Amino acid sequence: MNSDQNTSASPKSSLNLSLQDRNTFGFDASAELAYDITAANQIPAVIEQITQKKLPWRVLGGGSNVILPKVLPGVTLLMNIVGQEIIASNADSTLIAVGGGVNWHDFVAWTLDKDLPGLENLALIPGTVGAAPIQNIGAYGVEIGEYIDSVEAFDSKSHVFVTLTKDACQFAYRDSYFKKNPHRYIVTKVVFKIPKQWQARIHYADLAKQFFRQSSPSPEDIFLAVCKIRTHKLPDPKVIGNAGSFFQNPIVPGKQYDTLLQKHPGLVSYPDATGKRKLAAGWLIDQCGFKGQRMGNVGVYEKQALVLVNHGNGTAQDILRFAKCIQDKVQKEFGVSLDIEPNIL
Ligand code: EPU
Repeated sequence: MNSDQNTSASPKSSLNLSLQDRNTFGFDASAELAYDITAANQIPAVIEQITQKKLPWRVLGGGSNVILPKVLPGVTLLMNIVGQEIIASNADSTLIAVGGGVNWHDFVAWTLDKDLPGLENLALIPGTVGAAPIQNIGAYGVEIGEYIDSVEAFDSKSHVFVTLTKDACQFAYRDSYFKKNPHRYIVTKVVFKIPKQWQARIHYADLAKQFFRQSSPSPEDIFLAVCKIRTHKLPDPKVIGNAGSFFQNPIVPGKQYDTLLQKHPGLVSYPDATGKRKLAAGWLIDQCGFKGQRMGNVGVYEKQALVLVNHGNGTAQDILRFAKCIQDKVQKEFGVSLDIEPNIL
């Protein structure tokens, strides 16, 4: 990956840049001052300037997991570092270095093209490679943390580039060291480790259903099946604004789960790695009757209660107001609190 070479250290800047096409909710938002970051070596000077002037700042990747206000004050760094290359290969695994600004789905398709299967369950997740480790993206029984070797980032606190190993990243369900230390690291590069031994992972209910007649699907079969399921269940942001799952699936202690199950025998849940129980937030919200409901310009998607949508002209305030109604009702009915998944900027 040669993204650092032959690139000027001064990134292109824009004043009052519209971000309506850069956030999948499609909110009418703009950045007071935006820098187009195309190489890691552009970051130190920008952060230096931000620190000296005490400006607020944030990084925007694909804009698929954010709730943007009308104006983003200060500096917005648009993460556009691209490039991907195989940097090592042995009998066990292949290491691939990928720029933080690479589109996630394009990268997954590229790995299959290069005959490096493993990430197919994560097809069609919106967003960028740099955002993937932050919330440890996951779908259909696979979390990206399993395939990460290391993450390179600029530490805005100590003003140096750091490399965090997989262990240092502290991956957990929709969580990582980066998420625990918000507003500190700018992910510039992710190194993936793809094992040479491939095994289909189709145990997740939706995938198992697709392959119940086909015992040994290929990585491409799984890739296509995941794309099909996601296209059917999740709204296309180009058609209807959304940020995927709006809430995390809440994790409750075993005892609370037992009590809830007695009262609600239909409760959908999954065992959690720590011995607790992960509840399907979509089911809880659905049971409260919100599916397909509208509140002004925003609403709950008609096919998946976990997804909140912008029907057009909605704002961050509208979506947060509706989210609060949902949280209150779920709390009242089930005694469970729902955490919002996208970042509120
Ligand atoms: N359910 C309902 N009604 C609904 C929605 C769901 O009853 O309206 C029940 C169904 O029984 C369903 C269960 O809830 O079987 C779980 O729903 P689903 O299989 O759709 O998955 P999820 O738990 O809602 C998670 C991730 C998704 C990921 C899918 C597939 C979270 C917060 N969400 O959704 O991630 O794609 O699993 O693995 O963990 C995202 O983060 O943006 C995202 C889409």
